[in-house]
Amino acid sequence: MQQVLDGVIDYHFLLNGNWGQSASNRFIDVVSPNDGCVAGRIPAMTKEEVDLAVQGAVQAQKQWGLLPVHERGQLLLNWADELAMMSDEIAEMIMKEVGKTYSAAKNEVLRTSDLIRYTVEEGKRIHGEVMTGDSFQGSNANKVAIVRKEPLGVILAISPFNYPVNLSAAKIAPALISGNTVILKPATQGSISALLMAKALDKVGLPKGVLNVVTGKGSEIGDYLVTHPSIRMISFTGGTKTGRDIAKKATMIPLVLELGGKDPAIVLEDANLDKAARHIVSGAFSYSGQRCTAIKRVLVMDSVADSLIEKVKQQVEKLTVGMPEQDAAITPLIDASSADFVNDLILDALNKGAIPITEYRRVGNLIYPLVLDHVTQDMKVAWEEPFGPVLPIIRVKNEQEAVEIANASEYGLQASIFTQDIDKAFHLASKLEVGSVQINGRTERGPDHFPFLGVKNSGMGVQGVRKSIESMTRDKVLVLNL
Ligand code: NAP
Ligand code: G3H
Repeated sequence: MQQVLDGVIDYHFLLNGNWGQSASNRFIDVVSPNDGCVAGRIPAMTKEEVDLAVQGAVQAQKQWGLLPVHERGQLLLNWADELAMMSDEIAEMIMKEVGKTYSAAKNEVLRTSDLIRYTVEEGKRIHGEVMTGDSFQGSNANKVAIVRKEPLGVILAISPFNYPVNLSAAKIAPALISGNTVILKPATQGSISALLMAKALDKVGLPKGVLNVVTGKGSEIGDYLVTHPSIRMISFTGGTKTGRDIAKKATMIPLVLELGGKDPAIVLEDANLDKAARHIVSGAFSYSGQRCTAIKRVLVMDSVADSLIEKVKQQVEKLTVGMPEQDAAITPLIDASSADFVNDLILDALNKGAIPITEYRRVGNLIYPLVLDHVTQDMKVAWEEPFGPVLPIIRVKNEQEAVEIANASEYGLQASIFTQDIDKAFHLASKLEVGSVQINGRTERGPDHFPFLGVKNSGMGVQGVRKSIESMTRDKVLVLNL
């Protein structure tokens, strides 16, 4: 699946069981955020090659969809084992390609193995139902409907850079267990890790065409893919702008879109502030804030703001800053334009009077973790998703103001509430316009079988193992007229 040229590895795409190079003869450099070196090159596939991939997946689905679920499941279990065996190699590449620490990268791969195993178990329990026709007056009592679950066909899975393996497999596994075939379009930055993940599946004997991995820039091949007439469903995770564009272009097919977020942590007067500070810092700064579910603003009651901020400051000052190879907590952002974006948000806030609680420093793509106090609603950082290590703190008078500011966001992925009053927590949770509310814990997607969704500009449809399988199947109704 690769060849070495001038010390740089050229990776091949996976097309109908073959690892190949593009007829375009064009390669895209995948530049490591850590040292600016080329981690490898991926082929820029042509539209003709993309078309071959989709047609191959259509053909492959005819057989794959007929296999008994336990046979599909066994292959996926073998994939999970192979991934675990390749976890060191893949973690090395995730570290190089997207700047995760080795331990976080390895954890991503092992989490993915577990997710696949659980998906197999859940897939075996997806049954249809039987309905009788006697619920209405008239002559329907002789009818019995057998409602079966059928695959949709070819699923297009588009994944983001920040979980190149986990968020690809979280689409592939539910699609395959339910009898679909898959076209994976990984993020350009993250493609090599995704190709290694596909190699694990190829190694255990995946029939040709059941998973095809297409590589190339989303801006070049994306439109062709999402409007391809043989694609039967799109499962996309990425930025809101890209998701919205896809939703406009893809017509008459189901979409699951998991998009950006601006998750608030709401801290009430009676909160355990030590616990809140711990969860807020880990929620905001893990993987340098490059998680859709990162805590991206704190809404704290004025009366406890000083105490909370002091505790947050102490925790943030313990975060190490450096390279993933050093296992630093804060590592360089994915690219220079992302770091520029975060820098602009910070400068805007500082110019408008935000108070930095920690020292602001930037060295290339490396942004030191920054907590901003006294953030006000006229500052961009109060509303925009930084995808970087900056945490705005907005002081509020009361719970109602916290809910108003939380809901004024265009996003609605998750929210955290910190309080010792469980009644109050449930009351506030019912008012928040988000997919999930975490009570006394950081915002996060896992465990992977929980439903995971965003509302408003954070997405549509639901992921999480069972929900993903359901989104990739449809009902087929057989009516017996007795
Ligand atoms: P992105 O720029 O939107 O890219 C996501 C994927 O879409 C990549 O594979 C990208 O390919 C592809 N793409 C780009 N343009 C396309 C087009 N016109 N048609 C089809 N595909 C296209 O997002 P990202 O920078 O990788 O990830 C960061 C964003 O994702 C953040 O906003 C984050 O909040 C969000 N995210 C959300 C979740 C969630 O579950 N809610 C999870 C993770 C990340 P290229 O790389 O080739 O451009
Ligand atoms: O970046 C978005 C991911 O779905 C977040 O997953 O909460 O497990 O980090 P996580």
